[in-house]
Amino acid sequence: MLPTLMSLLQRSADYLKSHGIDNARREAEWLFSDALALTRLDLYTRFDMPVEEADVVRLRTLVQRRGRREPLAYVLGNQDFCGLRLTVGPGVLVPRPETEELVGLVLAESHGAGPLLDVGTGSGAIALALKQARPGNEVDASDASEQALAIAAANGQRLGLSVRWIRCHLASTLPGGYAAVVANLPYIAETERGQCDPELAFEPQEALYSGPDGLNLIRELIADARRLLLPQGILWLEHGWQQGPAITEACRVRGLSCAIRADLAGKPRFARITVSPN
Ligand SMILES: C[S@@+](CC[C@H](N)C(=O)[O-])C[C@H]1O[C@@H](n2cnc3c(N)ncnc32)[C@H](O)[C@@H]1O
Repeated sequence: MLPTLMSLLQRSADYLKSHGIDNARREAEWLFSDALALTRLDLYTRFDMPVEEADVVRLRTLVQRRGRREPLAYVLGNQDFCGLRLTVGPGVLVPRPETEELVGLVLAESHGAGPLLDVGTGSGAIALALKQARPGNEVDASDASEQALAIAAANGQRLGLSVRWIRCHLASTLPGGYAAVVANLPYIAETERGQCDPELAFEPQEALYSGPDGLNLIRELIADARRLLLPQGILWLEHGWQQGPAITEACRVRGLSCAIRADLAGKPRFARITVSPN
């Protein structure tokens, strides 16, 4: 006898819970609604619908992948970011909600026509969200990873958003002259490798870790800020909640002004860096 939708959903949620997934029921709903092209409401109004054998097999595969702690976004193949549906998979970091807050901070202070740059673009999340909000501005995006840039460019093409994708180390081959440079660079300390959530093992390691205190790449980009920014330009960085003082100090020794902003959870998370004290 074929299982009903609700019995299969409940079994899947129990399975995910037993594998340490916090929002097991919610995630099972996401997987089911995506795979069966149903809304979450459909899952409940059609609770006694028999699920065909082929769908049972397909759903089991997805639930087992998530049970092995592969990120939900990889299993689904996409992640929503600032209202854009981005394709993601192995090779790019899954864009995080805090980074949406970073985009909000950038947009709140980017009203001119100057070009914008996203360093370490990954799936293209920041660059594409900026281009969507500011279609009149040129937007550049760099990454060291060819695989990430291929995914980012495909996202841009599918969404009809024109961004210039550049493969380089940080912004080293770019001439500068940006009104805003935004970067969510790897910022986890090497010493924390292996101590983080199991999901992180699936994401590209070069997207996560950066030297003994996590700040190697951030320090390097700060050192390049004066060259990259227009005189009134702003460098925006996302960082670990304990890294604010070290970032402030890295700016001070370069004669840059730095203000640390908190995320919605109240943790110091974003640095706003300028050449002149504004
Ligand atoms: C934390 S991920 C952020 C991705 C994306 N910006 C986001 O917020 O979802 C960091 C990104 O920096 C890239 N990256 C790492 N080292 C780099 C380097 N030396 N130069 C340029 N990009 C680098 C990684 O490939 C990865 O895509």
